[in-house]
Amino acid sequence: MNSSSPGNRENGLVIAIDGPSGAGKSTITKLLAERLGYIHIDTGAMFRAIALSASRSGVRPDDDAALTELCSRTDVVLQRSNCCCTVLLNGEDVSQAIRTPEISALTSKISARKPVRENLLILQRRMGASGGVILEGRDIGTVVFPDAEVKFFLSASAEERGRRRYLELAAKGESITLEETIAAVVARDENDEKREHAPLRCADDAIVIDSTRLSIEEVLETMEKVVRERVLERKTA
Ligand code: DC
Repeated sequence: MNSSSPGNRENGLVIAIDGPSGAGKSTITKLLAERLGYIHIDTGAMFRAIALSASRSGVRPDDDAALTELCSRTDVVLQRSNCCCTVLLNGEDVSQAIRTPEISALTSKISARKPVRENLLILQRRMGASGGVILEGRDIGTVVFPDAEVKFFLSASAEERGRRRYLELAAKGESITLEETIAAVVARDENDEKREHAPLRCADDAIVIDSTRLSIEEVLETMEKVVRERVLERKTA
């Protein structure tokens, strides 16, 4: 295993939150990280930044040689300030530009490619090595940190996830219908689950939370309780 060993994580636990699009991972991870004083690592934003870079450079999602070359000259940084996290692509703030429906669809294709996953895997493991982090993504508990001390798999029905994504996009003024948004969410699920490399999968030892009928606060309380118990167990071990 190439992830850091739990014994070397001097800043705290590694917490993995995986699940499909629109399950609430970003909102929950951000709030949970604030409560615990942990660093939030949005791995989806890293894949999105690579997709944006590919789109701007005219690199096709199935051209692995060009993707390898692109990754070698693409620098992705998640920069934290008190209130938010800025995504930097070769020094440029692309936090908004990576959130369009077009980049979401392209990211689903680009993130299936081996060179892109290998490149970001190294970066993600480095970012989480000292612990005290919550990583959200699709393969954190299965591939990136299979020995994470706490793993959650957060899900919700496709209709509810589509509805949440639609409200987010509508608030930003994107012209897309609810039906189109649900269809896009289902299509992304299928790409993410069926791909060969690091597919979206619930780790065997993950705690599954279905957020369809739960409030953000209810999900947070459940997760925080589990994490605090693990922290105590670790101290007394
Ligand atoms: O979490 P998100 O919707 O921002 O993710 C964007 C895309 O990136 C999504 O289609 C799945 C992919 N992704 C991935 O394959 N592995 C991750 N660890 C995170 C995201």
